[in-house]
Amino acid sequence: MSNQSASALLSVKDITVRFGGIVALDSVSFDVPRNKVCGLIGPNGAGKTTLFNCLSRLYQYQSGDLLFDGESITQTPVHAMSKIGIGRTFQNLAMFRTMTVRQNVMVGAHARSEGGFLSNMLKTPASRAEETQMTADADSLLTYLKLAEYADRAVGDLPFGIQKRVEFARALASKPKMLLLDEPAAGLNHSELSDLANFIRTVRDDMGITVLLVEHHMNLVMEVSDWIVVLNFGKKIAEGTPDEIQRNPEVIRAYLGDGNNETA
Ligand SMILES: Nc1ncnc2c1ncn2[C@@H]1O[C@H](COP(=O)(O)OP(=O)(O)OP(=O)(O)O)[C@@H](O)[C@H]1O
Ligand SMILES: [Mg+2]
Repeated sequence: MSNQSASALLSVKDITVRFGGIVALDSVSFDVPRNKVCGLIGPNGAGKTTLFNCLSRLYQYQSGDLLFDGESITQTPVHAMSKIGIGRTFQNLAMFRTMTVRQNVMVGAHARSEGGFLSNMLKTPASRAEETQMTADADSLLTYLKLAEYADRAVGDLPFGIQKRVEFARALASKPKMLLLDEPAAGLNHSELSDLANFIRTVRDDMGITVLLVEHHMNLVMEVSDWIVVLNFGKKIAEGTPDEIQRNPEVIRAYLGDGNNETA
């Protein structure tokens, strides 16, 4: 246990979140090891997005702590999250629809930019150099994610699967240590799904980024995850390797119990 904590990039410690009478997360604890893909699964309403919102500091937790890279993030303000190295995508796409693909990705890069608002506005030499670098970085990400041909198109005009990939690129543009993906497979077609599995692996293997993946698409989760944590009604009911999770009776019960196994 202590060994695992030492190498963990993220430690979730006894997190409890209540909304009125609903206990969305009930004393949940687990570690996410560095440079791994950790799947976070569970039936609808299990608390997965709530945990992401705690990690992004959008929700307050009533008790517990979140340690990122060994430091508590309980006091870290929302706007500082990408600077400390946590990037994310949203269950419902959140992008600037009238802006181009490249501009959306640059928003991600700006989120961790060192240049302040004033130096950006005054276009100092340092801020101009930074802007040039960011544009180059954005373009190489677009190439990497097979988005170069859409760089100058407005995001809102593009097919859903492409928009989801833009959101993924934007999260990567902030150069996160950890990437939180909330249902990246939802609504994707077969070939987009296999691209996504490859992107997730290259993010881990080539970019050295740790991934926390919320997903209902069980084939994808089992294929790309090194480790899986299972929530049900706000409680952690299991964690283990994909093999262990697929054989775990309590996990099987949770999925069969509520008709939520349509993608299993
Ligand atoms: N802002 C909120 N206000 C009130 N209740 C909330 C809020 N956010 C989440 N909940 C409740 O907390 C519980 C967990 O919801 P959450 O969205 O985290 O589930 P989930 O595991 O992401 O589900 P899904 O797979 O459907 O996305 C649910 O009962 C939900 O209704
Ligand atoms: Mg959710």
